[in-house]
Amino acid sequence: MLAFGARIAAQARIGDVIALYGGLGAGKTTIARGLLAALGLEGEAPSPSFAIVQPYDVPEVRLPVAHVDLYRLDGAEEAAELALGDYLADSLLILEWPARLGDALWPHSLRLTIEMLEDGARRLTADVPDAWTERWSQI
Ligand SMILES: Nc1ncnc2c1ncn2[C@@H]1O[C@H](COP(=O)(O)OP(=O)(O)O)[C@@H](O)[C@H]1O
Ligand SMILES: [Mg+2]
Repeated sequence: MLAFGARIAAQARIGDVIALYGGLGAGKTTIARGLLAALGLEGEAPSPSFAIVQPYDVPEVRLPVAHVDLYRLDGAEEAAELALGDYLADSLLILEWPARLGDALWPHSLRLTIEMLEDGARRLTADVPDAWTERWSQI
């Protein structure tokens, strides 16, 4: 998960949305940690499950990032109050529990779903939007 996050980081740009689907403990935050570490963050990124939005800025990371965990939100209305779209102008957005946004998830989002298998292994499925098709082949 850490190595995969790093591979995403190598292709990520400002305005991208990385939407991480999967149950509790699936590995969403771990992917985000790998991504943030590859962008230069020193030390372990905290889970944003209580802060909801954890922003990072240059120079601690190579490009600004908003790491968001929507788990504790009740629905799309509360999510709208976070004005997450504002981050897209100048940041990379990493979203855990993106289903909380309902239909409001941006269509250019790279959607990654982690399933936990019975033996503890994880299966990762990527939904690759047009914005990522060329870059996906580099990952
Ligand atoms: N591929 C994996 N295989 C086994 N354990 C994993 C894997 N990815 C993450 N973990 C572990 O599972 C736990 C929960 O991971 P975390 O990334 O916090 O999940 P989430 O954010 O999806 O709730 C952590 O202890 C993490 O080290
Ligand atoms: Mg998490």
